[in-house]
Amino acid sequence: MNTSRHQIRFLLGRNIIETELNDPTTTLLEFLREQAELKGTKEGCAEGDCGACTVLIGELKDGRLQHTSANACILLLGMVDEKQIITVEHAALPEPHPVQRAMVATDGSQCGFCTPGFVMSMIGLQAAHADHGHESPPTREAIDQALAGNLCRCTGYGPIIDAARHACALPLSPDWQAMSCEAQTTLSAWGKEVRPLASHGKCGHFEAPRTSAALLKVLQQHPDATLVAGATDVGLWITKHGRPLSTLVHVGAIDELKTIESNDAGLHIGAAASLADAANALGALSPNIERVLLRFGGAQVRNRGTLGGNIANGSPIGDMAPILIALDARLHLSGPDGPRTIPLEAFFIAYGKQDLNPGEFLESISIPISDLNGFRCWKISKRFDQDISAVLGAFQLLIDGEQVHSARICFGGMAGTPQRAVACELALTGQPFNRATLALAQTALMSDFSPLSDLRASRHYRLRVANNLLERYWLDRIAGETQPDLYSSSMPGLLQHD
Ligand SMILES: Cc1cc2nc3c(=O)[nH]c(=O)nc-3n(C[C@H](O)[C@H](O)[C@H](O)COP(=O)(O)OP(=O)(O)OC[C@H]3O[C@@H](n4cnc5c(N)ncnc54)[C@H](O)[C@@H]3O)c2cc1C
Ligand code: FES
Ligand code: FES
Repeated sequence: MNTSRHQIRFLLGRNIIETELNDPTTTLLEFLREQAELKGTKEGCAEGDCGACTVLIGELKDGRLQHTSANACILLLGMVDEKQIITVEHAALPEPHPVQRAMVATDGSQCGFCTPGFVMSMIGLQAAHADHGHESPPTREAIDQALAGNLCRCTGYGPIIDAARHACALPLSPDWQAMSCEAQTTLSAWGKEVRPLASHGKCGHFEAPRTSAALLKVLQQHPDATLVAGATDVGLWITKHGRPLSTLVHVGAIDELKTIESNDAGLHIGAAASLADAANALGALSPNIERVLLRFGGAQVRNRGTLGGNIANGSPIGDMAPILIALDARLHLSGPDGPRTIPLEAFFIAYGKQDLNPGEFLESISIPISDLNGFRCWKISKRFDQDISAVLGAFQLLIDGEQVHSARICFGGMAGTPQRAVACELALTGQPFNRATLALAQTALMSDFSPLSDLRASRHYRLRVANNLLERYWLDRIAGETQPDLYSSSMPGLLQHD
């Protein structure tokens, strides 16, 4: 039966909760702390940065229950419909979790404010590690990645990392396994009912259609609706900007918008695929893309944030747009006038203005698979992890013999939209790729952009970095001088990753 539901339902640990959603902007953190009286999950920043509010979300992927971390402060309650939520309270029952014991044993906690978030990220790592059948401790790299979205100001990371090393290799407890078995059964049964959520609360609507066709209809019924995918941007409009949003339409329950497939024509990624799910396919295109993706927010942000959201937000400093423009990606849009396909670069009209008509939404992104040997991209930010780019440069040059056959170069952070370096591309095309051409291309690049100074970087710094990235590309390709990652990662002279 395909009748819609007015109440949301989810598992809170082992308990089924069915409740009205009076306000569509209620966050999961508000629900946990103020309604469920579960105060273990903390509020630090309320903007997805510190990880104090980390919980695990259990959901079915290809029929199997998987738990991934999320920032409860910017996750909307409606988005956990038909999922399982695990907080530090559930993890600690009936006795302290081995991760908590390890934190005590290694002196991994001082003020303790960040501790529940670290514990939840570590339990998420343990569950993923066990899922992959690993018995040895997770690598330092895996621990760093799992904890990059958690900040601690008191303890220092050494003891926390030691705790992760000890505890994350332990097998999952029988209690955890029993809780997961029950959750798998409940979520599977709910999934079979196919009853989309359409909540009409006192303060507004929250709808989660299950198909693209239903989404189209809902958007026609609610022309003023705000689309929400992972809410890693929209959540901040609520918690930080206090924007009144009375109708939210969630695209996360539409499976057809989450598919990721590769064929002769290229790679196709559904707009609602999470960055974590898309990372394997995108990272396989180039190790450079993989490195950028590992530095896209922290794990909590990548687990929820989507590729479609990263493009549709129109940000001039979003990480994926410059990369995808350099790769000549296309956008597939669907709206009341039917589907249409446009080059990604045409989507960004001006700062804050995208080519998206009323009632239209982004369905998928396709990337032609071409010769990617000449592709490179680098993200430059003040901090290595969990930081937005100051500048991101993406370069796709095809070189025949010694001559540049074609060049697509795109930068983020250099203009009001992600933008191609057209003069620079012209200066390179048809020329031998030597020092003299590089010098001309660098001069041309300076005429391509007139960046702003802001809190991330000055105008002068941005121009200098763009210029240096082009030189780096040349060194990497022609002189064969692989540059140390130190300079590919964060701003030279500023804090480096240990
Ligand atoms: C702590 C933190 C760290 C971050 N780090 C990075 C980073 O390193 N790099 C980076 O680029 N970004 C970063 N971001 C920004 C954000 O995570 C990304 O832009 C993310 O990809 C947004 O996706 P989402 O699904 O959460 O979008 P949402 O917040 O759900 O939506 C964003 C916008 O897209 C629209 N939208 C969503 N889906 C569709 C669709 N299918 N069709 C049409 N419109 C749609 C929404 O209406 C909204 O306008 C960070 C954010 C946080 C909170
Ligand atoms: S409170 Fe800081 S990430 Fe949620
Ligand atoms: S123990 Fe105080 S912030 Fe981490």
